Amino acid sequence: VTVTRIPVGGDSAPYDVVIGSGILGDVAGSLPAHATRVALMHPEALGDRAADLAVSLAAPGREVITIELPDGEATKTAEVAYGCWEALGRNGFTRTDVIVGLGGGATTDLAGFVAGTWLRGVAVVLVPTTLLAMVDAAVGGKTGINTASGKNLVGVIHEPAAVVIDTDWLATLPSADLVAGLAEVIKTGFIADPAILDVIEADPAGAVDPHSAVLRELIERSVSVKARVVSADVRERIGDDLGREVLNYGHTFGHAIERAEDYRWRHGDAVAVGMLYVAAVARAAGLLPDEVVERHRSILASVGLPTSYVLGRWDELRAAMRVDKKARGDELRFVVLEDVGRPRILRGPDEGVLRAAYEEVCR
Ligand SMILES: NC(=O)c1ccc[n+]([C@@H]2O[C@H](COP(=O)([O-])OP(=O)(O)OC[C@H]3O[C@@H](n4cnc5c(N)ncnc54)[C@H](O)[C@@H]3O)[C@@H](O)[C@H]2O)c1
Repeated sequence: VTVTRIPVGGDSAPYDVVIGSGILGDVAGSLPAHATRVALMHPEALGDRAADLAVSLAAPGREVITIELPDGEATKTAEVAYGCWEALGRNGFTRTDVIVGLGGGATTDLAGFVAGTWLRGVAVVLVPTTLLAMVDAAVGGKTGINTASGKNLVGVIHEPAAVVIDTDWLATLPSADLVAGLAEVIKTGFIADPAILDVIEADPAGAVDPHSAVLRELIERSVSVKARVVSADVRERIGDDLGREVLNYGHTFGHAIERAEDYRWRHGDAVAVGMLYVAAVARAAGLLPDEVVERHRSILASVGLPTSYVLGRWDELRAAMRVDKKARGDELRFVVLEDVGRPRILRGPDEGVLRAAYEEVCR
């Protein structure tokens, strides 16, 4: 088995993202040596395979408890986090014990949040099982839960002790989820690694095949980009430099679509349209050449991602962009490209440009 290790530097201890096929056994080896208790958190949907993992984590002098969580986004609530804290308390979890978060991004966000808050922070090893969680949610230390006022408004930054990506998980992932995850892969291509775009353009069918070497390469390249960006900007500074904010490429308009659709759209699908939108904004602002905008459209379409949204909802979308987390005060900020791999910030673009880009992309 060939295993790839991608180091992520952080505020505290650096950690590795380990990538391979059939490497679930590596999870036990990634646990801190001092851990005498392991809490394995997983969604109901992955119960059978979580049970196998639990067996492999048990060892003399190390006890494993399993905490089953609601599936998907329903797990990211204060109630679920509270239930986890109670379970850790009942089982006498101490500062030297470890949480393992197995599942999609919703589960890794919740497990990371519980780990970051229990005793002000215990170790967590993340085992992402969706493409989105592998290339995005599990890397970088952001955690969060939702409240009635919105998504991810409560959270902490708590870096994992290790991330173990076993690509075999992708074999059972519904293909619509795999495709949605590719939007974030394509995003990292546009902002920082043009080779990602070349690889997909050469073999779009390979990119959506969970068993392909192509997809494995894409995962490695995307994780490398995310690792590089978050290593340089662990705490998400608020300033003029492009730190982690670059990862929000396509997300301002994408979030607006998610809100307009009451979160029934997949995040990646919304980000796909959002990237094309902001490319059109950049072109209208005289920053981005036409052919790069077209490259967005063709590469997104080639893997089955959406490239358009309904017309006639501008006012609602514009209002949703105003409350975007990246907005500072009233001014809209977009991550835009001047070329592939050359991101920058565009502040307060002209309202006419914003609207025209919507009408162009969604016509
Ligand atoms: N912390 C971050 O930096 C960050 C970044 C991006 C996204 N996120 C968060 O990630 C979440 C979305 O993640 P997601 O798309 O992975 O969704 P998810 O965790 O809800 O998983 C999607 C569905 O797939 C199922 N599933 C997971 N793995 C599977 C597998 N191998 N086979 C079959 N089914 C499987 C899950 O049970 C769930 O029903 C959102 O809550 C988002 O806020 C966080």
